[in-house]
Amino acid sequence: MAATPEAVKKLVELGFEVRVERDAGAQAGFLDADYAAVGAQVVDRAQAFGADVVVKVRPPTVEEAGLLEPSATLVSLLYPAGNAAMLDALAARKASAVALEKIPRITRAQKMDVLSSMANLAGYRAVVEAAQRYQGFFAPQVTAAGTTPPARVLIIGAGVAGLAAVGAARALGAEVRAFDTRAAAKEQVESLGASFLTVTVQESGEGQGGYAKTMSKEFLEAELKLFREQAKEVDVIITTALVPGAKAPVLLPREVVDCLKPGSVVVDLAAEQGGNCELTKADEVVVEKGISVIGYTDLPSRMARTASKFFAQNVVNLLVEMGGAKAFRLDLGSDVVRPALVLHRGEVLPAPPPVAPSPAKPPPAAAKVAAPAGKQAPQPIMTPTGRAWGATLGGMGVLGALFLLGRFAPADFLQHSTVFILACFVGWQVIWSVTPALHTPLMSVTNAISGIIIIGGLLQVGTGLDVASVLGALAVLVAAINIAGGFLVTQRMLKMFQRGAGPSKPSGGHP
Ligand code: NAI
Repeated sequence: MAATPEAVKKLVELGFEVRVERDAGAQAGFLDADYAAVGAQVVDRAQAFGADVVVKVRPPTVEEAGLLEPSATLVSLLYPAGNAAMLDALAARKASAVALEKIPRITRAQKMDVLSSMANLAGYRAVVEAAQRYQGFFAPQVTAAGTTPPARVLIIGAGVAGLAAVGAARALGAEVRAFDTRAAAKEQVESLGASFLTVTVQESGEGQGGYAKTMSKEFLEAELKLFREQAKEVDVIITTALVPGAKAPVLLPREVVDCLKPGSVVVDLAAEQGGNCELTKADEVVVEKGISVIGYTDLPSRMARTASKFFAQNVVNLLVEMGGAKAFRLDLGSDVVRPALVLHRGEVLPAPPPVAPSPAKPPPAAAKVAAPAGKQAPQPIMTPTGRAWGATLGGMGVLGALFLLGRFAPADFLQHSTVFILACFVGWQVIWSVTPALHTPLMSVTNAISGIIIIGGLLQVGTGLDVASVLGALAVLVAAINIAGGFLVTQRMLKMFQRGAGPSKPSGGHP
């Protein structure tokens, strides 16, 4: 559904008078009453198509195009290349049409990019569909009845959908590897905790405007070899490899699928463009030798409520860009609207030259480590010389403070503060020298604190047989139990992630 009640509320606030076709939101869980409650008029189909601006998800049929008022503006996915009759019908009405799939992939337009929103949902849903078919756990399990290793998931094509799939599969606990022809994908894949596979043939996958290009025969052969080896190891393969304007490359021929274990699952997100897997049938699940090949083309619609929410918000952002209700215009000079404006008052506009896409916003886990697209992480303003001066002044300040302390503070205070500073120093070293693979950060911190307590306790024990030394001994004992316990728990956790005798390594590539 192109507008949720929440979006309609925003459109009303922007000054639009909103009509919603009766029952249009029913299948996504939005009732007519919900729309009426936020100020929309619920109308019949003809009245809905009679609006000045018509917003819908899918391209209109020829009949729907004929319902538009002369000079109306249609905002929807359009794919005009394969639908000349529809375009003619729109032109005959002297309508204007904004094709949502043509919104340029520049940072400023990201909030209006429905393809990215939907690809993100599709990638996530692909993992959910795979998990639903796969007959095992994704995360490793250690139970009284036995252990199972994590599911191994291979993602081919690490664009928006692929990265969403990497994130979702990692979140479920799977061991994930990904492959893409664009070198830029490596960092994003790794920032999500998956390994990036490579082939021996050196060839850049960056095509015109930063999108993928069709790869050479040698490269595709090298890919095939990699996937054949991978298929022997992995449990789930999710393919998302697309080249704009071309049929999807076949990366999983039957002989590769045959290498998978029975019970494995392939989800082919390229099903609509012919499929990355030879066995794929659009909108069907093919099961052969116990291997399921899922070719659903409606993955975002399987999350209709959320898909509608994102789609609608993208459209609201676009309508704001177009001036809202008061200043609504089809700005031929706009770098966002012009590339998407396919039809202007009945006239077909030529496509402007493509712009290079900026890197897509990685899913949340990666966002933690990478600065959002277009925005640089704040840089410290200090120059190296400025820093040196700062350090010198800071050092002098600390020395001055220590001198004053030594001059005026009681002897006891000096002894305790020495212990405290030493303990902080040791604790600091303990935290920073810990290999993350061996400790969780939390455990390092608690162990460091226990270390500080032990040093403090030991110093107190040496003072004779008084209350302080007994308390000191007690502190040493409790902190030692805490450290030993920490190591035991760590050991158990590490075991959970080990399969069989030793840690696994994906073969056939460089993780
Ligand atoms: P897509 O859906 O067209 O293709 C999916 C992935 O398949 C791509 O990463 C592509 O490199 C890969 N691929 C193609 N042929 C392959 C092969 N033979 N083997 C393995 N992988 C193959 O791509 P998507 O997700 O639409 O993104 C394409 C580009 O656009 C990326 O650079 C992305 O960062 C950028 N982008 C920028 C946005 C923005 O607004 N700034 C929004 C969305 C994407």
